[in-house]
Amino acid sequence: MIISKLPNVGTTIFTRMSQLAVETGALNLSQGFPDFDGPLALREAVGRHIAAGHNQYAPMTGLPALREQVAAKIARSYGRTVSADNEITITPGATQAIFCAVQALIRAGDEVIVFGPCYDSYEPSVELAGGRCVHVPLALPDFAIDWQRLNDALSVNTRLIILNSPHNPSGALISKAELDQLAELIRGRDIYLISDEVYEHLVFDGTKHVSVLAHEELYQRAFVVSSFGKSYHVTGWKTGYVVAPPALSAELRKVHQYVSFCAVTPLQCALADYMAEHPEHVENLPGFYQAKRDLFCDLLAGSRFSFTRAAGTFFQLVDYSAIRPDLDDLAMAEWLTRAHGVAAIPVSVFYQQPPKELRLVRFCFAKREETLRQAAEKLCAI
Ligand SMILES: Cc1ncc(COP(=O)(O)O)c(C=O)c1O
Repeated sequence: MIISKLPNVGTTIFTRMSQLAVETGALNLSQGFPDFDGPLALREAVGRHIAAGHNQYAPMTGLPALREQVAAKIARSYGRTVSADNEITITPGATQAIFCAVQALIRAGDEVIVFGPCYDSYEPSVELAGGRCVHVPLALPDFAIDWQRLNDALSVNTRLIILNSPHNPSGALISKAELDQLAELIRGRDIYLISDEVYEHLVFDGTKHVSVLAHEELYQRAFVVSSFGKSYHVTGWKTGYVVAPPALSAELRKVHQYVSFCAVTPLQCALADYMAEHPEHVENLPGFYQAKRDLFCDLLAGSRFSFTRAAGTFFQLVDYSAIRPDLDDLAMAEWLTRAHGVAAIPVSVFYQQPPKELRLVRFCFAKREETLRQAAEKLCAI
């Protein structure tokens, strides 16, 4: 009998809800992916590069042309000059980037602070490295850092803090003042950061994303992770990147070269071309997704769900206490899917210990207008 290294891990709720949506014919607003395609020119570029013979291993650190484009984007967006050669690594998705950063840093006995709720890959990555996650709940209702609890959670064994802004599942954003406070808290301690910024371009209402890349002190000890999948509507491409100071990048690359060696070549070629030709693409993302958020929320205003509009990401949390206070959120997500034809994700799955009486589910609004209208109609009828 094999003794599992991850005894608490089963099939994720994202797979289960997507399967249930298919089985029941429900609209799938559960898993975080668009039901529309990425830009045609980007998709066509992949075919062109495959036909042109760009089908062998890419350089381990990523295609130079793509790293140059990422460096240029970082300079435009956050005013930081990073070395495309020594500070940017292209990976097969942000999840793999996070995994490699964790393996590069964490040893048996190390503690890693994660904020609850959080993306589900963090904890298994830490466990496989022999570390232990210390879960610090974000303060409700705004999902803000609870500084007292964070301070209390720090120990001599704390080696890493994993941040995520814009935050999945809440859409909450970290502020410059919070980054300053974090810098003060960890100054002089041997603590690193992974800043998961895969939704960096999905920030609404005129607010600007506050990146760790723009924070001089924190960047010196950070791995900043992003995902082309999210920014170019191609989640199935599983292509992302990590930006870190040279010494940290060197350690990350040692792991990455034995986990995958490199990311998929023709996808990197296509992304490099598209980024060079369409630097405006990422600048248009806030408006593009804000229109979807507002359409969905305006339509839901006629429902019995209550909510505050998401400040970022393509997720909208809704409180269903006025509808089925008797159901926990897992039961609610299943009931919504089976009885009302709209699949959602229960928020408790993002927690180690969900707060009692949590009555929140998450909808993904990265959907066509028609899907959002149909979903809202079903949800308003409840
Ligand atoms: C917070 C967060 N981090 C990382 C990822 C993974 O990104 P990728 O698909 O590039 O691995 C996701 C995807 O849902 C996410 O929500």
